[in-house]
Amino acid sequence: MSLPSALLDRARVAARPQVTGSVSGAMGLTLTVDGLAAAVGDLVEIDPADRRLFAEVVAVGRDRLTCMPLGTLSGVHSGAPVRATGMPLQVPVGEALLGRVLDGLGRPVDGGPPLGSRVSYVDLASETPHALSRTRVEEPLTFGVRALDTLVPCGKGQRLGIFAGSGVGKSSLLAQITRGTDADVRVIGLIGERGREVREFLEENLGAEGMARTVVVVATSDEPPLVRLKAAFVATRIAEAFRDEGRDVLLLMDSITRTAMAQREVGLSAGEPPATRGYPPSVFAMMPQLLEKAGTGTTGSITGLYTVLVEGDDHNEPIADTARSILDGHIVLTRKLATVGHFPAIDVLESISRVATAVVPPAQMADAREVRRLMGALRDVKELIEIGAYQSGSDPLVDRARGLAPQIDAFLQQPMGESTPAPESWDWLQRIVRSA
Ligand SMILES: Nc1ncnc2c1ncn2[C@@H]1O[C@H](COP(=O)(O)OP(=O)(O)OP(=O)(O)O)[C@@H](O)[C@H]1O
Ligand SMILES: [Mg+2]
Repeated sequence: MSLPSALLDRARVAARPQVTGSVSGAMGLTLTVDGLAAAVGDLVEIDPADRRLFAEVVAVGRDRLTCMPLGTLSGVHSGAPVRATGMPLQVPVGEALLGRVLDGLGRPVDGGPPLGSRVSYVDLASETPHALSRTRVEEPLTFGVRALDTLVPCGKGQRLGIFAGSGVGKSSLLAQITRGTDADVRVIGLIGERGREVREFLEENLGAEGMARTVVVVATSDEPPLVRLKAAFVATRIAEAFRDEGRDVLLLMDSITRTAMAQREVGLSAGEPPATRGYPPSVFAMMPQLLEKAGTGTTGSITGLYTVLVEGDDHNEPIADTARSILDGHIVLTRKLATVGHFPAIDVLESISRVATAVVPPAQMADAREVRRLMGALRDVKELIEIGAYQSGSDPLVDRARGLAPQIDAFLQQPMGESTPAPESWDWLQRIVRSA
Protein backbone atom coordinates (compact mmCIF):
# COMPACT_ATOMS: atom_id res chain seq x y z
CA MET A 1 0.00 0.00 0.00
CA SER A 2 1.36 3.42 -0.86
CA LEU A 3 0.72 6.40 1.34
CA PRO A 4 -0.38 9.72 -0.21
CA SER A 5 2.69 11.88 -0.71
CA ALA A 6 1.29 14.72 1.43
CA LEU A 7 0.99 12.28 4.33
CA LEU A 8 4.52 11.05 3.77
CA ASP A 9 5.81 14.63 3.75
CA ARG A 10 4.11 15.28 7.06
CA ALA A 11 5.54 12.09 8.56
CA ARG A 12 9.02 13.10 7.41
CA VAL A 13 8.64 16.53 8.96
CA ALA A 14 7.36 15.05 12.22
CA ALA A 15 10.21 12.55 12.39
CA ARG A 16 12.95 15.13 11.84
CA PRO A 17 15.15 16.01 14.80
CA GLN A 18 13.90 19.21 16.40
CA VAL A 19 16.24 22.16 16.10
CA THR A 20 15.39 25.23 18.08
CA GLY A 21 16.60 28.67 17.13
CA SER A 22 16.10 31.88 19.00
CA VAL A 23 14.77 35.38 18.41
CA SER A 24 17.69 37.78 17.92
CA GLY A 25 15.74 40.92 17.16
CA ALA A 26 12.31 42.36 16.46
CA MET A 27 11.63 45.67 14.80
CA GLY A 28 8.56 47.03 13.09
CA LEU A 29 6.97 44.10 11.33
CA THR A 30 10.09 41.99 11.07
CA LEU A 31 11.80 39.53 13.30
CA THR A 32 15.24 37.96 13.05
CA VAL A 33 15.91 34.41 14.16
CA ASP A 34 19.35 32.86 14.68
CA GLY A 35 20.39 29.24 14.75
CA LEU A 36 17.60 27.82 12.61
CA ALA A 37 17.50 26.61 9.01
CA ALA A 38 14.32 27.14 6.99
CA ALA A 39 13.27 27.95 3.45
CA VAL A 40 11.75 31.20 2.27
CA GLY A 41 7.97 30.92 2.60
CA ASP A 42 8.12 28.38 5.46
CA LEU A 43 6.48 29.07 8.77
CA VAL A 44 8.35 29.11 12.06
CA GLU A 45 6.70 28.95 15.47
CA ILE A 46 7.87 31.41 18.09
CA ASP A 47 7.96 30.61 21.78
CA PRO A 48 5.78 27.55 21.32
CA ALA A 49 5.39 26.95 25.06
CA ASP A 50 3.83 30.32 25.69
CA ARG A 51 1.35 31.00 22.87
CA ARG A 52 1.09 29.97 19.26
CA LEU A 53 2.66 32.77 17.24
CA PHE A 54 3.71 31.90 13.72
CA ALA A 55 5.97 33.90 11.45
CA GLU A 56 6.76 33.51 7.78
CA VAL A 57 10.35 33.38 6.58
CA VAL A 58 10.82 36.20 4.07
CA ALA A 59 14.62 36.19 3.72
CA VAL A 60 17.43 33.83 4.66
CA GLY A 61 21.08 34.61 5.45
CA ARG A 62 24.03 32.43 6.46
CA ASP A 63 22.61 31.68 9.90
CA ARG A 64 19.95 34.29 10.30
CA LEU A 65 16.34 34.23 9.13
CA THR A 66 14.24 37.31 8.59
CA CYS A 67 10.61 36.59 9.36
CA MET A 68 7.29 38.40 9.37
CA PRO A 69 4.94 37.51 12.22
CA LEU A 70 1.39 36.35 11.53
CA GLY A 71 0.21 37.89 14.78
CA THR A 72 1.21 40.65 17.18
CA LEU A 73 4.81 40.80 18.31
CA SER A 74 4.13 42.17 21.78
CA GLY A 75 5.63 39.99 24.47
CA VAL A 76 8.22 38.41 22.17
CA HIS A 77 11.62 38.76 23.84
CA SER A 78 15.09 38.29 22.47
CA GLY A 79 16.27 34.75 22.98
CA ALA A 80 12.72 33.38 22.76
CA PRO A 81 12.83 29.86 21.30
CA VAL A 82 11.80 29.38 17.67
CA ARG A 83 10.92 26.08 16.04
CA ALA A 84 10.78 25.38 12.31
CA THR A 85 7.53 23.83 11.08
CA GLY A 86 9.18 22.68 7.87
CA MET A 87 6.32 23.84 5.68
CA PRO A 88 4.58 26.92 4.38
CA LEU A 89 1.14 28.05 5.56
CA GLN A 90 -1.39 25.25 5.09
CA VAL A 91 -4.92 26.08 4.03
CA PRO A 92 -7.92 23.84 4.79
CA VAL A 93 -10.00 22.98 1.72
CA GLY A 94 -13.09 20.89 1.08
CA GLU A 95 -16.84 20.55 1.44
CA ALA A 96 -16.73 20.63 5.26
CA LEU A 97 -15.83 24.33 5.10
CA LEU A 98 -19.28 25.30 3.79
CA GLY A 99 -21.15 27.33 6.39
CA ARG A 100 -17.95 28.07 8.34
CA VAL A 101 -16.19 31.32 9.23
CA LEU A 102 -12.38 31.21 9.22
CA ASP A 103 -9.74 33.72 10.27
CA GLY A 104 -7.12 35.10 7.90
CA LEU A 105 -4.95 32.01 8.36
CA GLY A 106 -7.78 29.55 7.73
CA ARG A 107 -8.60 28.65 11.36
CA PRO A 108 -12.28 28.48 12.37
CA VAL A 109 -13.47 31.42 14.47
CA ASP A 110 -17.18 30.68 14.58
CA GLY A 111 -17.13 28.50 17.69
CA GLY A 112 -18.09 25.47 15.57
CA PRO A 113 -16.46 22.03 15.74
CA PRO A 114 -12.76 21.74 14.85
CA LEU A 115 -12.11 21.05 11.17
CA GLY A 116 -10.13 17.93 12.04
CA SER A 117 -9.88 15.30 9.35
CA ARG A 118 -13.00 16.42 7.50
CA VAL A 119 -10.90 18.82 5.45
CA SER A 120 -7.61 18.37 3.65
CA TYR A 121 -4.72 20.80 3.83
CA VAL A 122 -2.87 22.31 0.89
CA ASP A 123 -0.04 24.81 0.50
CA LEU A 124 -1.18 28.39 0.18
CA ALA A 125 0.89 28.81 -2.97
CA SER A 126 -0.78 27.38 -6.06
CA GLU A 127 -0.29 27.22 -9.80
CA THR A 128 -2.27 29.85 -11.66
CA PRO A 129 -3.91 28.14 -14.66
CA HIS A 130 -2.01 28.86 -17.85
CA ALA A 131 -3.75 31.33 -20.13
CA LEU A 132 -4.12 28.80 -22.94
CA SER A 133 -5.46 26.00 -20.75
CA ARG A 134 -8.32 28.12 -19.47
CA THR A 135 -11.76 27.53 -20.95
CA ARG A 136 -13.54 30.58 -22.35
CA VAL A 137 -16.16 32.52 -20.45
CA GLU A 138 -19.35 31.51 -22.23
CA GLU A 139 -22.04 30.67 -19.69
CA PRO A 140 -23.88 33.25 -17.62
CA LEU A 141 -23.69 33.27 -13.83
CA THR A 142 -26.71 34.97 -12.34
CA PHE A 143 -26.85 37.03 -9.15
CA GLY A 144 -30.61 37.44 -8.58
CA VAL A 145 -30.06 41.20 -8.92
CA ARG A 146 -32.16 42.48 -11.84
CA ALA A 147 -29.96 45.42 -12.85
CA LEU A 148 -26.88 43.18 -12.99
CA ASP A 149 -28.29 40.00 -14.53
CA THR A 150 -29.73 41.89 -17.49
CA LEU A 151 -27.73 45.09 -17.97
CA VAL A 152 -24.29 44.10 -16.62
CA PRO A 153 -24.40 40.33 -17.17
CA CYS A 154 -21.65 38.25 -15.66
CA GLY A 155 -20.16 35.03 -17.06
CA LYS A 156 -18.83 32.04 -15.14
CA GLY A 157 -15.12 32.73 -14.68
CA GLN A 158 -15.36 36.48 -15.18
CA ARG A 159 -13.72 38.91 -12.77
CA LEU A 160 -15.67 42.06 -11.98
CA GLY A 161 -14.83 45.05 -9.82
CA ILE A 162 -17.46 46.87 -7.77
CA PHE A 163 -16.23 50.47 -7.68
CA ALA A 164 -17.71 52.85 -5.13
CA GLY A 165 -17.02 55.42 -2.46
CA SER A 166 -17.47 54.54 1.20
CA GLY A 167 -20.95 53.76 2.46
CA VAL A 168 -22.58 53.56 -0.96
CA GLY A 169 -23.70 49.95 -0.56
CA LYS A 170 -20.82 47.69 -1.69
CA SER A 171 -21.09 45.24 1.16
CA SER A 172 -24.90 45.17 0.99
CA LEU A 173 -24.74 44.38 -2.72
CA LEU A 174 -22.26 41.57 -2.08
CA ALA A 175 -24.61 40.08 0.51
CA GLN A 176 -27.56 40.36 -1.86
CA ILE A 177 -25.56 38.63 -4.59
CA THR A 178 -24.40 35.88 -2.21
CA ARG A 179 -27.98 35.04 -1.39
CA GLY A 180 -29.33 35.30 -4.91
CA THR A 181 -26.60 33.73 -7.04
CA ASP A 182 -26.90 30.37 -8.76
CA ALA A 183 -23.19 29.58 -8.15
CA ASP A 184 -22.57 26.15 -6.55
CA VAL A 185 -20.28 27.52 -3.87
CA ARG A 186 -19.54 31.00 -2.57
CA VAL A 187 -16.34 32.06 -0.86
CA ILE A 188 -16.26 35.48 0.78
CA GLY A 189 -13.09 37.25 1.87
CA LEU A 190 -13.73 40.13 4.29
CA ILE A 191 -10.42 41.94 4.35
CA GLY A 192 -9.67 44.93 6.58
CA GLU A 193 -13.31 45.60 7.43
CA ARG A 194 -14.41 47.00 10.76
CA GLY A 195 -14.99 44.23 13.33
CA ARG A 196 -18.48 45.50 14.16
CA GLU A 197 -19.51 45.26 10.51
CA VAL A 198 -18.44 41.65 10.09
CA ARG A 199 -20.97 40.39 12.62
CA GLU A 200 -23.66 42.56 11.07
CA PHE A 201 -22.77 41.29 7.61
CA LEU A 202 -22.88 37.64 8.65
CA GLU A 203 -26.00 37.75 10.80
CA GLU A 204 -28.19 40.37 9.18
CA ASN A 205 -27.13 40.72 5.58
CA LEU A 206 -26.13 37.16 4.81
CA GLY A 207 -28.36 35.26 7.22
CA ALA A 208 -28.53 31.51 7.75
CA GLU A 209 -29.70 30.75 4.22
CA GLY A 210 -26.85 32.79 2.71
CA MET A 211 -24.30 31.03 4.92
CA ALA A 212 -25.29 27.49 3.98
CA ARG A 213 -23.27 27.20 0.77
CA THR A 214 -20.70 29.80 1.76
CA VAL A 215 -17.22 29.87 3.26
CA VAL A 216 -16.23 33.17 4.91
CA VAL A 217 -12.63 34.23 5.57
CA VAL A 218 -12.30 37.26 7.83
CA ALA A 219 -9.35 39.48 8.74
CA THR A 220 -10.54 42.71 10.36
CA SER A 221 -8.71 46.02 10.22
CA ASP A 222 -7.02 45.48 13.60
CA GLU A 223 -5.26 42.29 12.46
CA PRO A 224 -1.56 42.54 11.51
CA PRO A 225 -1.08 43.53 7.86
CA LEU A 226 0.43 40.18 6.87
CA VAL A 227 -2.67 38.37 8.20
CA ARG A 228 -4.95 40.69 6.22
CA LEU A 229 -2.88 40.09 3.12
CA LYS A 230 -2.83 36.31 3.65
CA ALA A 231 -6.60 36.28 4.16
CA ALA A 232 -7.16 37.41 0.57
CA PHE A 233 -4.95 34.59 -0.69
CA VAL A 234 -6.46 32.03 1.72
CA ALA A 235 -10.00 32.84 0.48
CA THR A 236 -8.76 32.56 -3.10
CA ARG A 237 -6.97 29.26 -2.38
CA ILE A 238 -10.17 27.76 -0.91
CA ALA A 239 -12.05 28.86 -4.04
CA GLU A 240 -9.34 27.32 -6.25
CA ALA A 241 -9.72 23.95 -4.56
CA PHE A 242 -13.46 23.95 -5.25
CA ARG A 243 -12.84 25.02 -8.84
CA ASP A 244 -10.35 22.23 -9.37
CA GLU A 245 -13.12 19.79 -8.42
CA GLY A 246 -15.09 21.19 -11.36
CA ARG A 247 -17.38 23.46 -9.32
CA ASP A 248 -18.54 26.94 -10.30
CA VAL A 249 -17.40 29.13 -7.45
CA LEU A 250 -18.30 32.73 -6.76
CA LEU A 251 -15.47 34.47 -4.91
CA LEU A 252 -16.39 37.79 -3.32
CA MET A 253 -13.64 39.98 -1.91
CA ASP A 254 -14.44 43.03 0.23
CA SER A 255 -12.17 44.86 -0.37
CA ILE A 256 -9.26 44.68 -2.79
CA THR A 257 -8.32 48.22 -1.72
CA ARG A 258 -7.74 47.16 1.87
CA THR A 259 -5.78 44.14 0.65
CA ALA A 260 -3.55 46.53 -1.31
CA MET A 261 -3.18 48.68 1.82
CA ALA A 262 -2.04 45.62 3.78
CA GLN A 263 0.56 44.87 1.10
CA ARG A 264 1.67 48.51 1.33
CA GLU A 265 2.29 48.17 5.08
CA VAL A 266 4.19 44.93 4.54
CA GLY A 267 6.24 46.36 1.66
CA LEU A 268 7.13 49.61 3.41
CA SER A 269 8.16 47.84 6.60
CA ALA A 270 10.39 45.52 4.56
CA GLY A 271 12.21 48.63 3.32
CA GLU A 272 10.61 49.06 -0.10
CA PRO A 273 10.44 52.62 -1.38
CA PRO A 274 7.02 54.21 -1.73
CA ALA A 275 6.32 54.75 -5.42
CA THR A 276 2.86 55.76 -6.68
CA ARG A 277 0.97 57.78 -4.03
CA GLY A 278 2.75 55.99 -1.20
CA TYR A 279 2.20 52.50 -2.61
CA PRO A 280 5.43 50.53 -3.04
CA PRO A 281 5.98 48.50 -6.25
CA SER A 282 5.08 45.19 -4.55
CA VAL A 283 1.43 46.34 -4.36
CA PHE A 284 1.23 46.52 -8.12
CA ALA A 285 2.91 43.11 -8.40
CA MET A 286 0.55 41.53 -5.85
CA MET A 287 -2.70 42.67 -7.46
CA PRO A 288 -2.42 40.76 -10.76
CA GLN A 289 -1.05 37.74 -8.85
CA LEU A 290 -4.17 37.66 -6.70
CA LEU A 291 -6.73 38.57 -9.36
CA GLU A 292 -5.34 36.24 -12.02
CA LYS A 293 -5.97 33.27 -9.73
CA ALA A 294 -9.69 33.69 -10.32
CA GLY A 295 -11.19 32.90 -13.70
CA THR A 296 -11.84 29.66 -15.51
CA GLY A 297 -9.57 26.62 -15.15
CA THR A 298 -9.48 23.50 -17.27
CA THR A 299 -12.57 22.46 -15.34
CA GLY A 300 -14.78 24.59 -13.13
CA SER A 301 -14.58 28.32 -12.69
CA ILE A 302 -13.99 31.07 -10.16
CA THR A 303 -16.07 34.13 -10.82
CA GLY A 304 -14.41 36.95 -8.90
CA LEU A 305 -16.20 40.00 -7.51
CA TYR A 306 -13.85 42.50 -5.91
CA THR A 307 -14.94 45.69 -4.22
CA VAL A 308 -12.76 48.69 -4.89
CA LEU A 309 -12.99 51.74 -2.65
CA VAL A 310 -12.88 54.92 -4.70
CA GLU A 311 -11.97 57.70 -2.29
CA GLY A 312 -13.56 61.06 -2.96
CA ASP A 313 -14.81 59.79 -6.33
CA ASP A 314 -11.23 59.79 -7.61
CA HIS A 315 -11.57 57.02 -10.17
CA ASN A 316 -7.93 57.45 -11.21
CA GLU A 317 -6.62 56.53 -7.80
CA PRO A 318 -3.78 53.99 -8.44
CA ILE A 319 -5.47 50.96 -6.86
CA ALA A 320 -8.75 51.55 -8.71
CA ASP A 321 -6.80 52.15 -11.90
CA THR A 322 -4.77 48.95 -11.56
CA ALA A 323 -7.85 46.91 -10.66
CA ARG A 324 -9.74 48.26 -13.64
CA SER A 325 -6.94 47.32 -16.01
CA ILE A 326 -6.79 43.71 -14.76
CA LEU A 327 -10.51 42.95 -14.34
CA ASP A 328 -12.97 41.99 -17.09
CA GLY A 329 -15.60 44.52 -16.22
CA HIS A 330 -16.80 46.93 -13.63
CA ILE A 331 -19.92 47.74 -11.69
CA VAL A 332 -20.02 51.37 -10.59
CA LEU A 333 -22.07 52.41 -7.57
CA THR A 334 -22.75 56.12 -7.13
CA ARG A 335 -23.47 58.20 -4.10
CA LYS A 336 -25.98 60.22 -6.13
CA LEU A 337 -28.30 57.21 -6.37
CA ALA A 338 -27.64 56.06 -2.79
CA THR A 339 -28.53 59.46 -1.31
CA VAL A 340 -31.92 59.45 -3.02
CA GLY A 341 -32.54 55.93 -1.71
CA HIS A 342 -32.12 54.18 -5.08
CA PHE A 343 -30.65 50.77 -4.09
CA PRO A 344 -28.66 48.96 -5.30
CA ALA A 345 -27.02 52.25 -6.32
CA ILE A 346 -25.71 50.85 -9.62
CA ASP A 347 -24.87 53.43 -12.29
CA VAL A 348 -25.88 51.18 -15.15
CA LEU A 349 -24.56 53.42 -17.91
CA GLU A 350 -21.10 53.59 -16.32
CA SER A 351 -20.98 49.83 -15.64
CA ILE A 352 -19.60 47.47 -18.24
CA SER A 353 -19.29 43.73 -18.55
CA ARG A 354 -16.75 42.75 -21.18
CA VAL A 355 -18.32 39.33 -21.67
CA ALA A 356 -21.96 40.45 -22.09
CA THR A 357 -22.29 39.44 -25.74
CA ALA A 358 -20.69 36.05 -25.07
CA VAL A 359 -23.12 35.05 -22.31
CA VAL A 360 -26.42 36.63 -23.37
CA PRO A 361 -28.53 35.49 -26.39
CA PRO A 362 -28.91 38.16 -29.11
CA ALA A 363 -32.65 38.80 -28.54
CA GLN A 364 -32.13 39.53 -24.86
CA MET A 365 -29.04 41.55 -25.67
CA ALA A 366 -31.17 43.72 -27.96
CA ASP A 367 -33.66 44.41 -25.13
CA ALA A 368 -30.82 45.32 -22.78
CA ARG A 369 -29.28 47.60 -25.38
CA GLU A 370 -32.62 49.34 -25.90
CA VAL A 371 -32.98 50.05 -22.17
CA ARG A 372 -29.43 51.43 -22.08
CA ARG A 373 -30.24 53.59 -25.12
CA LEU A 374 -33.34 54.99 -23.39
CA MET A 375 -31.45 55.64 -20.16
CA GLY A 376 -28.64 57.30 -22.11
CA ALA A 377 -31.02 59.57 -23.98
CA LEU A 378 -32.63 60.67 -20.75
CA ARG A 379 -29.29 61.31 -19.08
CA ASP A 380 -28.20 63.57 -21.93
CA VAL A 381 -31.16 65.92 -21.53
CA LYS A 382 -31.59 65.55 -17.77
CA GLU A 383 -30.36 69.04 -17.03
CA LEU A 384 -32.54 70.59 -19.71
CA ILE A 385 -35.57 68.83 -18.27
CA GLU A 386 -34.69 69.97 -14.75
CA ILE A 387 -34.57 73.63 -15.72
CA GLY A 388 -37.70 73.28 -17.83
CA ALA A 389 -35.88 73.91 -21.11
CA TYR A 390 -36.85 70.61 -22.73
CA GLN A 391 -39.91 70.75 -24.95
CA SER A 392 -41.95 67.57 -25.22
CA GLY A 393 -42.03 66.31 -28.78
CA SER A 394 -38.60 67.57 -29.77
CA ASP A 395 -37.01 64.12 -29.53
CA PRO A 396 -39.20 60.99 -29.76
CA LEU A 397 -36.53 58.83 -28.06
CA VAL A 398 -36.35 61.18 -25.06
CA ASP A 399 -40.12 61.30 -24.85
CA ARG A 400 -40.31 57.54 -24.84
CA ALA A 401 -37.55 57.37 -22.22
CA ARG A 402 -39.41 59.87 -20.02
CA GLY A 403 -42.57 57.83 -20.30
CA LEU A 404 -40.79 54.61 -19.37
CA ALA A 405 -38.54 56.09 -16.67
CA PRO A 406 -40.79 55.11 -13.73
CA GLN A 407 -40.96 51.53 -15.00
CA ILE A 408 -37.21 51.35 -15.56
CA ASP A 409 -36.62 52.75 -12.08
CA ALA A 410 -38.92 50.18 -10.51
CA PHE A 411 -37.04 47.47 -12.38
CA LEU A 412 -33.62 48.71 -11.27
CA GLN A 413 -34.44 49.25 -7.62
CA GLN A 414 -34.48 46.09 -5.57
CA PRO A 415 -34.82 45.79 -1.80
CA MET A 416 -32.04 43.97 0.08
CA GLY A 417 -34.10 40.89 0.91
CA GLU A 418 -35.43 40.41 -2.60
CA SER A 419 -33.94 38.09 -5.21
CA THR A 420 -35.29 37.79 -8.76
CA PRO A 421 -34.50 34.71 -10.87
CA ALA A 422 -32.84 35.80 -14.14
CA PRO A 423 -35.63 34.52 -16.49
CA GLU A 424 -38.12 36.68 -14.58
CA SER A 425 -35.81 39.69 -14.86
CA TRP A 426 -35.51 39.23 -18.61
CA ASP A 427 -39.31 38.93 -18.97
CA TRP A 428 -39.74 42.10 -16.94
CA LEU A 429 -37.17 43.93 -19.06
CA GLN A 430 -38.89 42.73 -22.24
CA ARG A 431 -42.26 44.01 -21.01
CA ILE A 432 -40.73 47.45 -20.45
CA VAL A 433 -39.12 47.57 -23.89
CA ARG A 434 -42.27 46.35 -25.66
CA SER A 435 -44.65 48.64 -23.78
CA ALA A 436 -45.64 52.04 -25.16
N1 LIG B 1 -30.21 47.49 -1.10
C1 LIG B 1 -30.27 48.41 -0.11
N2 LIG B 1 -31.47 48.80 0.37
C2 LIG B 1 -31.55 49.72 1.33
N3 LIG B 1 -30.50 50.32 1.91
C3 LIG B 1 -29.28 49.98 1.49
C4 LIG B 1 -29.08 49.00 0.46
N4 LIG B 1 -27.77 48.87 0.23
C5 LIG B 1 -27.15 49.71 1.09
N5 LIG B 1 -28.05 50.38 1.84
C6 LIG B 1 -27.75 51.41 2.86
O1 LIG B 1 -26.43 51.92 2.68
C7 LIG B 1 -25.67 51.77 3.87
C8 LIG B 1 -24.23 51.45 3.55
O2 LIG B 1 -24.16 50.21 2.88
P1 LIG B 1 -22.85 49.31 2.91
O3 LIG B 1 -22.36 49.09 4.28
O4 LIG B 1 -23.18 48.11 2.09
O5 LIG B 1 -21.85 50.26 2.13
P2 LIG B 1 -20.31 50.03 1.81
O6 LIG B 1 -20.10 50.66 0.48
O7 LIG B 1 -19.95 48.62 1.96
O8 LIG B 1 -19.65 50.89 2.94
P3 LIG B 1 -18.10 50.89 3.44
O9 LIG B 1 -17.35 51.65 2.41
O10 LIG B 1 -18.20 51.61 4.72
O11 LIG B 1 -17.68 49.47 3.54
C9 LIG B 1 -26.37 50.68 4.65
O12 LIG B 1 -26.23 50.83 6.01
C10 LIG B 1 -27.82 50.85 4.24
O13 LIG B 1 -28.45 51.80 5.05
MG1 LIG C 1 -18.46 47.70 3.18
